[in-house]
Amino acid sequence: MKILITGGAGFIGSHVVRLFVNKYPDYTIYNLDKLTYAGNLENLRDIENKPNYKFVKGDIVDAGFINELFAKEQFNAVIHLAAESHVDRSITNPLEFVYTNVIGTVNLLNAAKTLFKQEGSSFKRFYHVSTDEVYGSLGDEGMFTETTAYDPHSPYSASKASSDHFVRAYHDTYKLPCVISNCSNNYGPYHFPEKLIPLCINNIKHNRSLPIYGKGENVRDWLFVEDHARAIDVIFHKAKEGSTYNIGGHNEWKNIDVIRLLCRIMDKKLNREPGCNEKLITFVTDRAGHDLRYAIDSTKLQNELGWKPSLQFEEGLEKTVDWYLANETWLENVTSGSYAHYYEDQYARR
Ligand code: NAD
Ligand code: DAU
Repeated sequence: MKILITGGAGFIGSHVVRLFVNKYPDYTIYNLDKLTYAGNLENLRDIENKPNYKFVKGDIVDAGFINELFAKEQFNAVIHLAAESHVDRSITNPLEFVYTNVIGTVNLLNAAKTLFKQEGSSFKRFYHVSTDEVYGSLGDEGMFTETTAYDPHSPYSASKASSDHFVRAYHDTYKLPCVISNCSNNYGPYHFPEKLIPLCINNIKHNRSLPIYGKGENVRDWLFVEDHARAIDVIFHKAKEGSTYNIGGHNEWKNIDVIRLLCRIMDKKLNREPGCNEKLITFVTDRAGHDLRYAIDSTKLQNELGWKPSLQFEEGLEKTVDWYLANETWLENVTSGSYAHYYEDQYARR
């Protein structure tokens, strides 16, 4: 099998590439990535010389390039993760999200359709990795299931919802063998430090303020990134064509409670006085259109395909902190260069 994984130099993509390269030596894994600010080949140093791994630098928005690549390599399957992924950036620059998340996805679908429609085609699967944010926001009760109506609120989630609709349309119209999964918030190693958890780990380390939007009452359902990668492996190999699976850890936390827990873990790790890091918490202006609560019901995935999350949140968060403290160079590299400007801009505004 020749599998194209898009966005493999990003946070989740790098865990998926690593898992597939190590677990399936008979597959050839192509990692296609534009290497935006969020893509970093340092995330894959440990597997970059494996014989079944190939990196291709390129932009999924460039239809000509994508069509040529598919014609040349004749992939058997695609696992599509490449995206603009940060909600705050989508509020500042929505069009970038339309280009990559919508047009980029349709370019891949078109190229996959061409392979699939060839005589004697061996194209088997187009797996689209999506998010729980397409379902919108919950009140105090209830959970998102696979049949919850789409109700996106941010430009990011609207672009992901649009891409999901295109994937289903290509399945229904052209019989392209598609599957989709919608996952909750991930955390773990290689998470870019613009997102809540790694941002706060980095800020605690440097004794900088911890910006909590609004009152910190918003709830997210956190899943360790390696558990997401395992779910993608199971769904890729076992899901029926045209199916959708929700992925989540049944692990809801208010943002303020996540950050308080993180502060306590890092008081110990950094040998600081208990309560010292909590003093860094600063409530700042809320995110526009901020979804109140996400909660994923992953019963279908658990019952039909036998996947379960492996880690408790406290254990996963401690493991994550240990990774960031042991990988200072990685953190310094990704917070310098072009990202530094964005990072400093954010702080100038707060
Ligand atoms: P990320 O921002 O860390 O990585 C995105 C990757 O895509 C980067 O390597 C980037 O260089 C690449 N990329 C961006 N634009 C590209 C383009 N035009 N052409 C080629 N490559 C491009 O994102 P992530 O957090 O790892 O998310 C990966 C996928 O999972 C996304 O589709 C996201 O919507 C979805 N998702 C993320 C989460 C989460 O909590 N992070 C949860 C559910 C679903
Ligand atoms: O639910 C899945 C989604 O999770 C993915 O689809 C997205 O790609 C991913 O970025 C993530 O989106 P969120 O907006 O939930 O993640 P973020 O880390 O940006 O924010 C988590 C929560 O913390 C959210 O309620 C906003 C809040 N927050 C975030 C930042 C960056 C703060 O309070 N302060 C901050 O500085």
